[in-house]
Amino acid sequence: MLKLYKEKERDLVILNLTDPQLDNNEWNTDAGQILCYTVEELIHRTNPDLITVTGDLAWQSQMESYDKFGQLMEKCGVPWTFVLGNHDNEGGADHSREICNIVSRHGGCLFEQGDAEMGCGNFVILTEEDGKPAVGLIFMDSHIAHFYDVDGVEYERDDGLNEAQLRWYREQVEALEKLGCHHSAVFMHIPVPEFMTAYNEALAVPADALTIEKSYDPDSWNEPYKDSFGIRLENNNIVGPDDGFFDLICELGHTKALICGHEHINCAVIKYKGVSLVFGLKAGRGCYWRPEMNGGTVITANAEGIKEIRHEFVEATHFW
Ligand SMILES: [Fe+2]
Repeated sequence: MLKLYKEKERDLVILNLTDPQLDNNEWNTDAGQILCYTVEELIHRTNPDLITVTGDLAWQSQMESYDKFGQLMEKCGVPWTFVLGNHDNEGGADHSREICNIVSRHGGCLFEQGDAEMGCGNFVILTEEDGKPAVGLIFMDSHIAHFYDVDGVEYERDDGLNEAQLRWYREQVEALEKLGCHHSAVFMHIPVPEFMTAYNEALAVPADALTIEKSYDPDSWNEPYKDSFGIRLENNNIVGPDDGFFDLICELGHTKALICGHEHINCAVIKYKGVSLVFGLKAGRGCYWRPEMNGGTVITANAEGIKEIRHEFVEATHFW
């Protein structure tokens, strides 16, 4: 278990970035400038204790880009960590490990590969204040995703978490409890299917009528989801095997926020069955994006739990 010491009398501030996903050449274009500017601006605004990156750091064959991303993180001068995304994992297990090595050697990175049976990068960071545990941060590898077509509709099937990961998660929660840590957040790339259920249940207006601005109006949401915000412009029809992870989270009652990425034009945050389901706001324009949905997600926490989750939108239109 890795440790991160939090300042006294100040909530822990986590800045989550997701899906930067540049290729080797884009670093020298406006795409690279947008990403660097976005990260710089977010750090300036939020003064984070930790930066988390929820996957798709680059494209699996673009090793130079992984190194450049690591350099960018090192330059920030803030402890940071990451999970792998489906694109990072597309080259197979050895390749994923190589990517982790290239990225994590950059200064300030808190990362463990974990047991290879579970993939690459399953680990826990325990935050502490004054020798006492605060919030536990659990990082999990959600592996790859496959796309297939059923009657003209494209479906996405992810591999889900494997049984070893579910056992490991239960053990980690029990270990955290024993240490006196009663709250955790989980970070992984591919959302669980309950994100879709939650959004459909929560939304009180037609999906195509919702804008980012309107999403901050409680009238846009049904009871008891009035504190939801963010929009979901993409629906990947996630039909991954029911690995039971969300049910396990509910059963154990320890994890209060599940932070994911993967869907670039989704930024909905909905508290569902006591767990905040968070689509992280995408950083930069890598792969595809919506300029109005650029930035990062801020999670503040202390020993009493997760205090606040919010998006920080960064306008970067002056680069083109
Ligand atoms: Fe992805």
